[in-house]
Amino acid sequence: MSDVSKRASLIRPFVVMDVVARAKELEATGRDIVRLEIGDPDFPTPEVITRAAEAAMEAGDTNYTESLGLPDLRDAIAGHMHAAYGVGVDPSAVVVTQGSSPAMLLLFGALLDPGDEVVMADPCYPAYPNYVSFLGGVPVPVRVRAEDGFRFRLDEVERALTPRTKAIMVNSPCNPTGGVLGAEDLEALADLAERRGVWLASDEIYHGLEFGDRSHTVLEFTDRAFVLNGFSKTYAMTGWRLGYMIAPVVFVRPAEKIQQNFFLCANHFVQVAGTAALLHAQDEVARMRAQYDERRRYLVPALRSVGLRVATEPLGAFYVFADATGWSRDSLALAGRLLEEAGVAVAPGIDFGPGGEGFLRFSYATSLERLQEGVRRLGDWATRHV
Ligand SMILES: Cc1ncc(COP(=O)(O)O)c(C=O)c1O
Repeated sequence: MSDVSKRASLIRPFVVMDVVARAKELEATGRDIVRLEIGDPDFPTPEVITRAAEAAMEAGDTNYTESLGLPDLRDAIAGHMHAAYGVGVDPSAVVVTQGSSPAMLLLFGALLDPGDEVVMADPCYPAYPNYVSFLGGVPVPVRVRAEDGFRFRLDEVERALTPRTKAIMVNSPCNPTGGVLGAEDLEALADLAERRGVWLASDEIYHGLEFGDRSHTVLEFTDRAFVLNGFSKTYAMTGWRLGYMIAPVVFVRPAEKIQQNFFLCANHFVQVAGTAALLHAQDEVARMRAQYDERRRYLVPALRSVGLRVATEPLGAFYVFADATGWSRDSLALAGRLLEEAGVAVAPGIDFGPGGEGFLRFSYATSLERLQEGVRRLGDWATRHV
């Protein structure tokens, strides 16, 4: 019998990280690999943000801060919610974290008892079911489909609710699908949550990266909600580790106690930089968004032209989730072959749940030239092997 805890054994590995490792191995042998597998912006962090961090370090902002975060940053987050969505958020509801990932631990740690269920999309960001299982909860997948733009069908969500359901997880714009929920979708989910007495947990980390209508926060539709967000994607700050949760008031103190014990606080000068991001980097965000959109408009038809199916236009984040069943039904094996034989690294859809099998996720957080080279290689590969 293994000494490894059941809790740790329940965590499924993130296969795309194996793809990353193998891509790096191949690169170390001198091979050129087109890297479309990870969701890490290729843009440098905007200068106004790095300057703020440098100034903060020079000013000695290197100590612990309040566990809930610097008051200036919590104010700026509340101000951003008002400016972007017109919603009033009390700064005391904001919990600053080291990325949105720790915020998930705070959220589910404050919400779930063993056996509590969380309804989530299949496919979805793989950390969600792992966090829920780790904390003794039960992830309940609800299939979303390409032909629906990967949006929930409300009747299916409703059927998945049981007396043990504590929350419905929402992620729009979505990783891995690029799908976006409209105001009507969110309003209907908010109404369902209120009627059935469950919470909405909304991961809004890709807000600011939408290419159709502007995104809506769930807080426009209900107070029965937690919002998770972070600076990694929109502000090109993945390695800085900064995020936050906006929590209903009864959960703030429980989240604070978890934070105090497990993480103490987010990095001091990074919080100062995050404040500068919210206050001064919106033009830079718009500039990056325009470039992502240009890439997206190239990539979707280009993938279709080499034989992949993209049923509905992805309208947010920086991913295209393409149906590759014309090439293979085994996304893991296919991603392996594309890496070894075509020199193109992609994420296998199965990484995001059984509903992702047969799909490949392409990240366009890389330059247009590299995307063009990747598609050229995929086209050559398909001509020879399909
Ligand atoms: C949907 C989603 N949520 C959360 C995260 C984690 O982000 P952070 O860097 O804020 O921990 C990611 C990262 O890929 C993501 O795609």
